[in-house]
Amino acid sequence: MTEGHNLTINGDRLWDSLMEMAKIGATEKGGNCRLALTDLDREGRDLFVRWCEEAGCTIRVDKMGNIFARRPGRNDDLPPVMTGSHLDTQPTGGRFDGVYGVLAGLEVVRSLNDMNIETEHPIEVAVWTNEEGSRFAPSMISSAVFAGVYDLDYGLACADADGKTIGEELERIGYAGPDEVGNREIKAFFETHIEQGPILENEDITIGVVTGAQGQKWYELDIQGQESHAGPTPMPVRKDALLAAARVVELVNQVGLAHAPDGCATVGMLNVHPNSRNVIPGHVFMTIDFRHPDPTQLATMDQTMRGAVAEIAERSQVEIELKQIMDLEPLPFDEACVASVQKAADDLSFSSRRIVSGAGHDACNIARVAPTSMIFIPCIDGISHNEVEDAKPEWIHAGGNVLLRAMLERAN
Ligand code: GLV
Ligand code: MN
Ligand code: MN
Repeated sequence: MTEGHNLTINGDRLWDSLMEMAKIGATEKGGNCRLALTDLDREGRDLFVRWCEEAGCTIRVDKMGNIFARRPGRNDDLPPVMTGSHLDTQPTGGRFDGVYGVLAGLEVVRSLNDMNIETEHPIEVAVWTNEEGSRFAPSMISSAVFAGVYDLDYGLACADADGKTIGEELERIGYAGPDEVGNREIKAFFETHIEQGPILENEDITIGVVTGAQGQKWYELDIQGQESHAGPTPMPVRKDALLAAARVVELVNQVGLAHAPDGCATVGMLNVHPNSRNVIPGHVFMTIDFRHPDPTQLATMDQTMRGAVAEIAERSQVEIELKQIMDLEPLPFDEACVASVQKAADDLSFSSRRIVSGAGHDACNIARVAPTSMIFIPCIDGISHNEVEDAKPEWIHAGGNVLLRAMLERAN
């Protein structure tokens, strides 16, 4: 094996590939809109597959549309060392969230080829379908099916706002693969990602050694009031679904503040029906996203919210149906994988710190079935899920080099 200072990825090539991928679904403000299983997602997948085939990989696609590009090992019967992330983005997403983790994996493969390095275990680069949870909820659905959290039928039946399902859209874009989902051994899984928060940049640290992710609970609320005329309907008798929703928005914020700084609480989506300025809103669909690294605190947030939502329904004279659609326990990553990331950062003399992920990642699901860790790099001003999301090329390069070393340690 090539040792020490010769062992490096090609940072310029990785950056150029990121910028090439960012042209697919580029937005005017410099970001990306490549929603899961749209034609643009297909274009991104096709480009990734072409690049992997050019790098000598074989491609497999499973029934959730997860793509696995494989570089064979010297002993190809051994379980693979895997890396990867997602190519789908938020509607006003950036160029790095997800894509970096996928293309850093491809760059590891390309660099191993350049350096003529064979690994004992095969290397695989994964693209997980619908990580963002923006078009189809819940998020990270396909890595969750892979890890056995949901069954395949549930995953394929998840529908977007127009009622189109993941299964139908996979067929339509040609990524409904033949492979069974999951149920296979992975030696180790690493995911490289921008931090999506301000800690690393504020502390002038290059590498975040990720020890785990906080827990998440996602909810959907259907608020049923009664449409009626904005003029003749007296205030005391109204059943205003939007007023109830506004009270829930305030409540969610109060719950978040009561659990700050670790707890986070967000209403990100609100659909008002009929959305006409002289009709009292009769129906609202809304979402809640709760996060906390401590499961007990997260459970308290859940209980507080449920109690208060019931009170709001009564006070507002509406019906509120509350459905929990995701429950991700905080899960510590594998100590040995965390140590591999730390060692790689230390060997390369990068500044580093241990960090808990605020965002959800496919790695959080894979951690249930394989030894897993993540590598974070800073992003400018800690901003993500935003078109201005940005990262310095030297950070991109550094994270790729840490990934290369961590994977090589596990693959030999
Ligand atoms: C994924 O981006 C999440 O953390 O919601
Ligand atoms: Mn992501
Ligand atoms: Mn994201």
